[in-house]
This record gives sequence, C-alpha cells and structure tokens, in this order.
Amino acid sequence: MAKKFDQQHVLITGAARGIGFEIAIQFAKEGAILSLVDFNELNLATAVTALEAIGNKVYPYLVDISNRTAVYQMVEQAEKIQPIDILINNAGIASEKPFLNIEEAEWNQILSINITGMFHVSQAVCKYMAVRKKGVVVNMASKNGLDGEFGYTHYNVSKGGVIMLTKTMALELAHLGIRVNAVCPGYIQTPMSMEIDPPEFTAQFVHQYIPLNRPGKVQEIAPIFLFLASEDSSFITGQVIIADGGQLAGQKPGIDLLNKISIG
Ligand code: NAI
Repeated sequence: MAKKFDQQHVLITGAARGIGFEIAIQFAKEGAILSLVDFNELNLATAVTALEAIGNKVYPYLVDISNRTAVYQMVEQAEKIQPIDILINNAGIASEKPFLNIEEAEWNQILSINITGMFHVSQAVCKYMAVRKKGVVVNMASKNGLDGEFGYTHYNVSKGGVIMLTKTMALELAHLGIRVNAVCPGYIQTPMSMEIDPPEFTAQFVHQYIPLNRPGKVQEIAPIFLFLASEDSSFITGQVIIADGGQLAGQKPGIDLLNKISIG
C-alpha cells in the first residue's frame, strides 16, 4: 500500500524526544525523509538511530533554533538534500515561576525559543516554499496559548504568540500555496511535563481539571500533525486544533454536580 508521505521531506524541530520524536516516528512510518533539529546532542543521536531502524533517510541538525544564523545555515543544508515539503515547528521549553518573580533572562529565554525561534525557522523555510508555491507548516502551540495557566506567564505568552504567528502566516502565505495551522495540546505526559510536575501533582491536576480524567499521550498528538500536514486537510489554513481531554470545554464538574445530574 502506498505510504502517505512517501519520499516527502519533513523538517521537525525539537525532534529528539517527547512529542517531536513521536511525530518523527509517525512520519517515518509513512515513508517521509526526515530532517531532525534539536539542541540536545545525545538525545538527537538516539532518536536518529531509532528512526533509521524504521528504514528511512534521517538527517540530524544540532541547532538551537533561537540562533538565527545557525537556523538559516541548517535550512540551506536541508534544502540541498531535497526541497522541504513540510515544516513541523515543535521545539519549545517551559518553566514554572510566579509572575512577580520571573527574571528578565528567564522571560527572554522562553520567548527566544518558543516564539522567536519558531519565527526564524518558519521564515527560513517559507522563503524556499514561497518560490515553489507549495508547502505546509504545522506549529506547536498549547492549550495555554488560548487559556492561560497559573504560574506560567512567560510560557502562556509565548504560546499565545504562536497562535497569532500561525494565523498571520496563514493569511500572508496562502496565495503562495503555503498552508499554516497550529495544534494546542493540553496536559501531555512527556519528559518535559514529567520534569516539571511530580506524579502526585499530575494526578491531582487531572482529577480537578481534565474531563477525560487522564493526561494525554504523545501518540494522541502526533496524528493531528500528520493530518494537518496531509492533503486530507487541503482546505484548512490558519486554524488551531485543540486536544486537551476536554479541559477547555468548560468547568469540569465536581462530585456534587455529578451526583445531582444522574444519568438515565
Ligand atoms: P520535551 O522537552 O520532552 O521535548 C522538546 C524537545 O525540543 C527536546 O528534545 C529539546 O531538546 C528540544 N528543544 C527545546 N528547545 C530547543 C531549541 N532552542 N532548539 C532546538 N531544540 C530545542 O517537550 P514536549 O513536552 O515534547 O514538548 C514539545 C512541544 O510541545 C513544546 O513546544 C511544548 O511547549 C509543547 N507542548 C507540550 C505540552 C505537554 O504537556 N508536554 C502541552 C502543550 C504543548
């Protein structure tokens, strides 16, 4: 059976672990040629070995996406291998800090990666896509970009920025044949979220806020990226898909409300 992304060149940032790595696995299984960008050398090497085992061509780039010069050099190299068909802007970092205590350096670090870094990679890649009048971009935003979370001012702001970057890019690039969409996951179990939150906190958070009563899995997020990158979404641009276990649907009912509204 024909594979969905056979021989298509997909560039994925933050691909060495977590959601980005799972996105890479799912594209690899669908026949894509992969350019993987990450600034963690060890994890990147491990990811490449795992992805090559699936049988695809994999090209690693040890790059910090907040470094504009390095990003432009990396994209030039990747384009020489084969024109980039799909860009997955996934790389991002998070940290928890009360608003009143955030230092300027911490603020700048989050924004320089989550939003400015995404801007660098998007601009570098879309300059090539625009010439070809063909391309797809899928950006990693977050549920926090739509509805802020306590203790994450800088992160929330960066993800709100990703949503506006997505919409404006979609508007400006549509006539050049480039579609741009974003994905907003809620609480997903990844190395990042597990580094920030101890298991007891996660259990309590899920109980209190997530209607589906569990954290999401990377395997539940990656397919949304593949859908938005595929021809199945050919008339969708400038949109945001939320996958948050129902968190943004409304207030999760407490036990008193559940008891009051009995089913049947
Ligand atoms: P993760 O920390 O497990 O993976 C992120 C990857 O990006 C790592 O391999 C890291 O080395 C790489 N990276 C970070 N900054 C980079 C930079 N400047 N240059 C190159 N590579 C860089 O994180 P996770 O959880 O997989 O998150 C991936 C994306 O999904 C992030 O943008 C995050 O904000 C977003 N997200 C995560 C959620 C979650 O609950 N885990 C929820 C919503 C969004």
